[in-house]
Amino acid sequence: MKRPGSRTVVTGGAGFIGSHLVELLLRRGDEVIVIDDLSTGSMRNLSAIADHPRLHVVVGSVTDPVAVCQATRGADRIFHLAAAVGVNLIVDSPLSSLRTNIHGTEAVLDAALETGAEVLLASTSEIYGKNTADRLSEDADRILGSPLLSRWSYAAAKGIDEAFAHAYWNQLGLQVTIVRLFNTCGPRQTGRYGMVVPRLVSQALRGEALTVFGDGRQTRCFSYVGDVVPAMVDLLECRQTRGLAFNLGGAQEISILDLAQLVIDVTGSPSSIVLVPYEEAYSAGYEDMRRRVPDNRRSEAMVGYVPHTPLAEMIGRVADSIAGVAADPFPAPVKLLETQVP
Ligand SMILES: NC(=O)c1ccc[n+]([C@@H]2O[C@H](COP(=O)([O-])OP(=O)(O)OC[C@H]3O[C@@H](n4cnc5c(N)ncnc54)[C@H](O)[C@@H]3O)[C@@H](O)[C@H]2O)c1
Repeated sequence: MKRPGSRTVVTGGAGFIGSHLVELLLRRGDEVIVIDDLSTGSMRNLSAIADHPRLHVVVGSVTDPVAVCQATRGADRIFHLAAAVGVNLIVDSPLSSLRTNIHGTEAVLDAALETGAEVLLASTSEIYGKNTADRLSEDADRILGSPLLSRWSYAAAKGIDEAFAHAYWNQLGLQVTIVRLFNTCGPRQTGRYGMVVPRLVSQALRGEALTVFGDGRQTRCFSYVGDVVPAMVDLLECRQTRGLAFNLGGAQEISILDLAQLVIDVTGSPSSIVLVPYEEAYSAGYEDMRRRVPDNRRSEAMVGYVPHTPLAEMIGRVADSIAGVAADPFPAPVKLLETQVP
């Protein structure tokens, strides 16, 4: 529940989604404390608000319970976004990724319990694994490969995070809400760790061939950070969401091959498209999901979430961001609780 001038902690607040969330919370009048180890995030993501008097940044790890306790002391609410994210990072560093994504979450939930803060846990559509159902509802089964393949450790860890969060709510009364983000894109996202949209856009802007893995017929639904972030705040501010998970995904299903073509069209790039076998892009035995389509009806019913930004527009904004053009992801009037826009 929103209180005027909430003291809000954002773990991973120097990351792609976290930095947009921090901006929105400051606009809404919150005092915001970021805790981030700057492993995949960067202070550059916060440069537009670096001098804001209600922003405090703690450089530290969520795996350090002392740092987490200090950062969250007196907090009303915590958005827990810090995580090892991206297929490349997970496959290359499975151990530290597991530690961050499991021990870090446990430290944050413990600290929230201690301080009495509400928590929003950022989970992922990856937890559905290879389930290719037409519309993945929050109750859909999870179909994962072997736990010995590091490719699945992100989904496994986020699944454990959700189970932890649910148990903290169920047994200890922690006020926690879970969101399952599908492929989210927008300004400031980096392609360095395997995120497909900024990777393809960067290749197009450089005039290089766009590399599409596998046969390119795997499909995804991309959502825009400017649509998703306000819904995350709305969901945490709604008490009926406690102990539940909510999908937040995009509306348009598209194959990665068609996505690459759309990137070329939007950027006006002379680039071509090449298919790269998964074994070359990752390692032997890598498995991808053929399809991932969200059922957003629970989020829509609870807080009116409707992803409205068209994919071509998202690509254009990602291209602007990579080219160094500053972009406001919330150009439409956001529901400001206070008019205190910095
Ligand atoms: N972007 C997507 O498409 C997507 C999809 C599903 C779920 N998510 C979830 O959303 C959240 C944010 O992801 P993002 O896309 O902004 O990625 P990101 O990599 O930009 O953000 C993650 C942030 O966490 C920080 N971090 C990593 N390990 C940390 C640690 N041990 N201690 C403190 N900070 C740490 C990083 O430095 C970074 O700033 C993550 O929890 C991710 O699992 C994202």
